[in-house]
Amino acid sequence: MKIDISAVSYEEAKDLIKKLRYTIQHHNYLYYTRNEPEILDREYDQMFQDLIALEKKFPSLITPDSPSQRVGAPPLKEFKTVQHKIPMLSLGNAFNNEDLINFDKRIQKELKTETFQYVTELKMDGLAVSIRYENGVLIQGATRGNGVNGEDVSLNVKTIKNIPLKLFGNTIPLVIEVRGEIIMYKKDFEELNKEREKNGGSPFANPRNAAAGSLRQLDSRITAQRKLQMISYGIGEIEGISFETHFEILKFLKKLGFKTSPEATPCNGINEIIERCDYYKNHRNDYPFEADGIVLKVNEIALQKKLGATSHEPRWAIAYKFPPEEAETTVKNIIVQVGRTGILTPVAIFDSVGLEGSIVSRATLHNEDQIKRLGIRINDKIIVRKAGSVIPEVVKVLKEKRSQNTQPFKMPDKCPVCGDLAIRFEGESATRCINVSCPAQVKERIIHFASRNAMDIDALGDKIIDQLVDKKIISDYSDLYYLKKEDLLKLERMGETLEEKILRNIQQSKNKSLSNLIYALGIFQVGKYTANLFAKTFKSIDALKVATEDEILAIEGIGPITAQSIKKFFSSKQNIEILKKLKTAGIKMEEETKTQNLPLRREKIVFTGTLKNFSRGEAQNIVKNLGGEVPDTITKTTTIVVAGEKPGSKYKKAKTLEIKIISEDEFKKLIIGG
Ligand code: IVH
Repeated sequence: MKIDISAVSYEEAKDLIKKLRYTIQHHNYLYYTRNEPEILDREYDQMFQDLIALEKKFPSLITPDSPSQRVGAPPLKEFKTVQHKIPMLSLGNAFNNEDLINFDKRIQKELKTETFQYVTELKMDGLAVSIRYENGVLIQGATRGNGVNGEDVSLNVKTIKNIPLKLFGNTIPLVIEVRGEIIMYKKDFEELNKEREKNGGSPFANPRNAAAGSLRQLDSRITAQRKLQMISYGIGEIEGISFETHFEILKFLKKLGFKTSPEATPCNGINEIIERCDYYKNHRNDYPFEADGIVLKVNEIALQKKLGATSHEPRWAIAYKFPPEEAETTVKNIIVQVGRTGILTPVAIFDSVGLEGSIVSRATLHNEDQIKRLGIRINDKIIVRKAGSVIPEVVKVLKEKRSQNTQPFKMPDKCPVCGDLAIRFEGESATRCINVSCPAQVKERIIHFASRNAMDIDALGDKIIDQLVDKKIISDYSDLYYLKKEDLLKLERMGETLEEKILRNIQQSKNKSLSNLIYALGIFQVGKYTANLFAKTFKSIDALKVATEDEILAIEGIGPITAQSIKKFFSSKQNIEILKKLKTAGIKMEEETKTQNLPLRREKIVFTGTLKNFSRGEAQNIVKNLGGEVPDTITKTTTIVVAGEKPGSKYKKAKTLEIKIISEDEFKKLIIGG
């Protein structure tokens, strides 16, 4: 029926709107909750359009429970907090028959009887919500949160088509909180992921994440576009009606218009339950959504009350978790990825298989030892599963099925990203790339270099480092010292004040202590404490660079792995290049001597001619130890020239520049403080 809206009066509209809403809700229920549509989509859409047109003409007739309100609303700034008067509890877990039997025994003991019923139902893998109705109208939807406080996702839940905005039936409680799981069907999850990938977005890991990510949107218009569903399994607060059993509650929820836990069946005795768990374990894939177990609940409400709850879970219910699903596949290749911290991770690439609702085709092999443990080769047949239902892992290699064409895998000794040394240090399971300018790790290295305990370049945040590397302005930490104002001003959200602060911070960092610098270099095994020991012992980067493994090992508290790591670090050509760049930029590479109170701290002393009582080197060392500098050539900044016998051209130059010239005797007096 197409209505001629222009001819409808206010009174007629009131009546029409009421009828349309009722009919739309009814067909909504048949379509989304019962899966038994009675009309064509086209007819449904027409009714929906009529309703929207009428409400547009008479906006005062819009009510929050109108199906037109399912399209979402403008974005919120944040979710408000909702306190659950009756906490939303979690469930204890049973992983095998023994756990189930123990649970049953405990309950029997507590209730001092064997004659009670359980209800078993499927456990849906999604996100728990509580939907509050007052006088039959949906007034609030909240996530579980920490069980006591959740997020107010009312606008979002209103967009979910199988959640009634207004309850059905003749018995409507004054207040009812309906609790259940928000899920996404596997087919809708796959469609959503395809679309996201097509638009350059990242796919959700599994239907649960997709459901949670879709519900917890500040812009409920996005939720409205995602195909979510609710399956209810219980109630929270209720007023105006009471129940004797859990099964009655489920039947009542159905009457109100909800989809309820599939396979809910009362049953007697733990043996029947074990049989059921066994059956559903093998039929978990028969459902259009992810099911991760079976929940068993004591049926009688009075007994539930008697058993009570801990702060986290009821004593009258438990979740039997299905064991992780496994699949057989073939290894196509083993590749090596380099992480942000330089660790090389081997990854098995295998023929895609479906596991717990998603398609997987790769699994981390962690490290060399794991490869050895599994004995995995390219072309091997393997069993894979999802650890913790999320991360795919290789369970075992089917060696009995091994064919002729398998190839062993060897961990590379070169980093696949930069080609520098990849080293497995003694006692370590990881293999690492030690090149500080390796592109795979460069951001992490720079973040560490600039951190507080290292060079403390405070204004240089992670986001700025990200941009500098992404825009190829810098490719290792030494490049920081060659940054120019123009480089920084190319970055997003960069003003002059910040730019000046960054450059100032970078300048200031040049004088950080040697210990800070050693730590900042990011040498494997060299933390703040070890860096300090090295600075105290070797007093300069150059000395540390040439120190032998024995010299390093002689330091108390330093072990062979650290000594080896230092030697390897300085054996990398790339690392030596970076150190040169740091030195050229003027970074202090020597231990600070306490020059403040030394007598020659303001002097730059140049020697010329032969001294009678000292070698040139001895004289220079004495000056250095007294805080002075000993440049080789005379410049305007030279403060004293010591002239020995047969002085050279420096003598003349000193005269021309009118620099103070002293004899060897005067030099002696100077150094003994005369
Ligand atoms: S009953 C007080 N029944 O599983 C009892 N929970 O691991 C509360 N879940 O937080 C839960 N299907 O989100 C119950 N049929 C079912 C369920 C179910 C899925 C979720 C629920 C709960 C979690 C505990």
